[in-house]
Amino acid sequence: MSTVYLNGAFLPIEQACVSVMDRGFLFGDGVYEVIPAYGEHLFRFPHHLQRLQNSLDGIRLGNPCDALQWRDILTELLERNREHADNHNDQSVYLQVTRGSAAKRDHNFPERITPTVFAMSSPIAAPDPDIEAHGVAAVTLDDIRWQMCNIKAITLLPNVLLRQQATEQNSAEALLVKDGLVIEGSASNVFVIKDGRIQTPPNGPLMLPGITRDLVLELAARHDLPCSENDVKVAALRDADEIWITSSTREIVPVTRLDARPVGTGRPGPVWKTMIGHYRNYKEAVRNGTAD
Ligand code: PDD
Repeated sequence: MSTVYLNGAFLPIEQACVSVMDRGFLFGDGVYEVIPAYGEHLFRFPHHLQRLQNSLDGIRLGNPCDALQWRDILTELLERNREHADNHNDQSVYLQVTRGSAAKRDHNFPERITPTVFAMSSPIAAPDPDIEAHGVAAVTLDDIRWQMCNIKAITLLPNVLLRQQATEQNSAEALLVKDGLVIEGSASNVFVIKDGRIQTPPNGPLMLPGITRDLVLELAARHDLPCSENDVKVAALRDADEIWITSSTREIVPVTRLDARPVGTGRPGPVWKTMIGHYRNYKEAVRNGTAD
C-alpha cells in the first residue's frame, strides 16, 4: 500500500480523504506539479518549484510551504514509497494544492481558508523499447482550452477529452492547434525538426512552460544543435522530418505517424537519437547527484 502526504501527515493512500466541500473537488480550484525523481534525486526541482509558484500566483493562492518544506515533504514521501519502485527507485511525484474547503459552495474566494496540500508518488517504468524503436502516433485536434494554459491548473477536463479522443484514434497524443498554429500536446510540449533545426513554439499564456522542454532547449544549446523558439504552423508540422513530444513522465518521445501519415521516414530520426542520448546522460548525472 503506498503512502501519501495530506495536510501535514503521511498516511496510507486508502486512508487519505478530503472534504466534499474542497474547492478542488467542487471547482477544480487548484494547481499541481509532476516531478520525476531518479534514485530519489528530484529532477529540476528548483524549476518545478518556480513553476508551482507561478501557478499559485496565477490563481492568487499563497504558497503553503517554502522550498525547504517542499523538499522535506517530497523526499520523505519518496523514501516511504521506496519499496514500491522497481526501476532504480525512479518515482514521479504528483503534488496538488487547492484553495481548501469552505462551509458553503460559493464561487468567490472564501475568507480565512486553509489550502489543501496533497502529494503522492508512483514508480516510473523503464523507457518502452517498442516506443524507442518505432515511435508513437499522434493526431491534430482543435485546442478547446482556456487562455491561461501557462498555469498548471488541476482543471483538466479539455485535456482529458482531447487525450481520450486521441486514444480512440489509436494515438498516444493529441497535438493541439489554435489559429493554424501548433501549441502543445494534451499533456506534453511539442518539437518539430526540419533540416536538422530543432523548433518549438515560444512560451506564452496559451501553453504550459514545460520543464522537459526547457531542458531540451538547454541541452541543444550546450551541444551546439541548431534550435529556435518560433511559431509552428500546422503545414510545418506536416512537413517536419521529425516530431517529438516531451513531458516529465514520458521524457522525449518521437512521433512517427501524424494523422495516420508517416512523419519523415516514419521511424525515430537521427536528431531524436542524439537528443535522447544527451537527455539520458543528464538524467544519470541527476541520479548520481552531480546535476539537479
Ligand atoms: N503534464 N503541456 C501540458 C498541457 C502538460 O500537461 C505537460 C505535463 C507538459 C509538459 O511539461 P513538463 O515537461 O514540465 O512535464 C506540457 C504532466 C506530466 C501531467 O499532467 O501529468
